[in-house]
Amino acid sequence: MAITINPLHAELAAEIGNIDLHQPLNSEILAALQTALARYPVLVFHEQNLSDDQHAAFARSFGLIDAGLVLAANRKRRLKNTDVIDLANIDIDGNIIDAANARNVSLLANQLWHSDSSFKDPPAQYSILCGIDLPDEGGDTEFADQRAAHDALPEAMQARIAGMVAENWAFHSRNMLGGGNFSPEGMAKLPPVDWPIVHTIPESGHKSLFIGVHTREIRGMATAEARMLLLDLLEHATQRQFVYRHCWQNHDIVMWDNRCTLHRGRPYDLTKLRQLRRCSTEVQAA
Ligand SMILES: [Fe+2]
Repeated sequence: MAITINPLHAELAAEIGNIDLHQPLNSEILAALQTALARYPVLVFHEQNLSDDQHAAFARSFGLIDAGLVLAANRKRRLKNTDVIDLANIDIDGNIIDAANARNVSLLANQLWHSDSSFKDPPAQYSILCGIDLPDEGGDTEFADQRAAHDALPEAMQARIAGMVAENWAFHSRNMLGGGNFSPEGMAKLPPVDWPIVHTIPESGHKSLFIGVHTREIRGMATAEARMLLLDLLEHATQRQFVYRHCWQNHDIVMWDNRCTLHRGRPYDLTKLRQLRRCSTEVQAA
């Protein structure tokens, strides 16, 4: 039986039904999901209580696993499966971490608009986020359509930013939040990378903005001018009409294409358990 696709937001998000992600995907379902992702870059799946191994296997159907910021961290891992990124606000013994814990810098940096691993080469293509324990209030995740945001820019601005190249650095956002206890050796593993501010998504041919909180400089432009332009673009790109807000239920999975969306978490009570786990895939070489 074919999957069902129920739009949740214009061209940005859709709910996928009639699918069991605990099982390996057959080629027909995989192709259907890839087609759905080319149109709706945010897909929502309900009632998928995956083990870490099932989560990683689902991600691997779409490409190589992206290690992300873990490359720079020197922290004992709580989860056995190293493909899975632990986004729980608990320590290795399962206790909720203190608000001042350095790990909260990275968890709270997720509340700034970003594209996963846009600070590395290759960046992330798809992210697959499993909601395991969600607080009763807060902690929603928002997504912003960067194709629609690009299309809505005035023509003069589209022409101005076409061809601009920006520097992206993982620790720009962490520094904004006071730093995250990363060692110089760890930080050296994730040096800044350059990406065009506007790129084209190969599957759809659609142009998209590629900015966010990791973007800190524009090549050939003074820092202050570049940062004001980036802030203006980010403000434009995250207007409400471009945004889908996901209110989590336990065992939801949300999958998105980082190449043409930005996302951010919303605040929650840091004394309450919030446990999500993420697997991301790397952008494939053309
Ligand atoms: Fe993220």
